[in-house]
Amino acid sequence: MEQIVKRGGTRDYDRKIMASLFYDSSSLTRLSFESAMSRLGGKVLTMENASAFFSVSPDDALEDTIRVVDDFCDVIVLRHNEIGGAERAAKVCTVPLINAEHPTQALLDLYTIHKETNKLDGLKVALVGNLAEGRTVRSLSYLLSKFERVKLYFVSPESLQMKEDIIDHLAEHNTWYAVESDLHKVLPEVDVVYTTQIERDRFDGSDTEFKDFRKNYFIDKDSIELMNKNAIILSPLPRFTEISREIDHDSRAAYFRQTQNGMILRMALLAWVLE
Ligand code: CP
Repeated sequence: MEQIVKRGGTRDYDRKIMASLFYDSSSLTRLSFESAMSRLGGKVLTMENASAFFSVSPDDALEDTIRVVDDFCDVIVLRHNEIGGAERAAKVCTVPLINAEHPTQALLDLYTIHKETNKLDGLKVALVGNLAEGRTVRSLSYLLSKFERVKLYFVSPESLQMKEDIIDHLAEHNTWYAVESDLHKVLPEVDVVYTTQIERDRFDGSDTEFKDFRKNYFIDKDSIELMNKNAIILSPLPRFTEISREIDHDSRAAYFRQTQNGMILRMALLAWVLE
């Protein structure tokens, strides 16, 4: 797929149609999938803000929508706004259905980590920020538990720490993890620093505590100096205030390469399910 992108795309899938249905907001994932399908030569039907156009009640409205839309296309990319929505949709869908929540983000994160560091077994990864609600860090932790000798450092204030379901999953897979609050202590230890954004309205503490939080978990010129020279910084983007723009040109800032890899990964995934 990287070669195809360098050649300017392919027309191999010009008879195929992808429908993207987004019931929940997305700035990057939807564009990434649509770009991937376009570069494969396929056509795209798109519905942003689908919950405003398709009825979400009664309870089986999603099933009805999928039954209709699957006649219009060869693959559906769905981000639904309810837990279990993609699974419900997949049960009635007659074409491949890809969950555009964060499973594909975790795949592109793994692809990027492997491409940048040339390893997955033995990785040391710091996951930083709002771990309680950050869907990307939850999915990535889950996938990393499939590899050997991985060490995960969960770095966040106590109220935003990784939830029990993922911790239990790691324990079942004998994956090593540590709960930390001091980012600077962890930075010299790891191969990957994965940052997530934290919005003010998701933080329970006072304004002063929030200011401290941002200061403590901010990646800037000083903190990057603590990292190994071959370590990388990843982010699902878009960023909020967690990474200073002054480090964008440091070779360890891999987040824009990561978004490029996302499109490549999604091209491969679409081609695979469309075969
Ligand atoms: N990285 C990511 O999933 O972004 P969106 O939620 O904007 O798609």
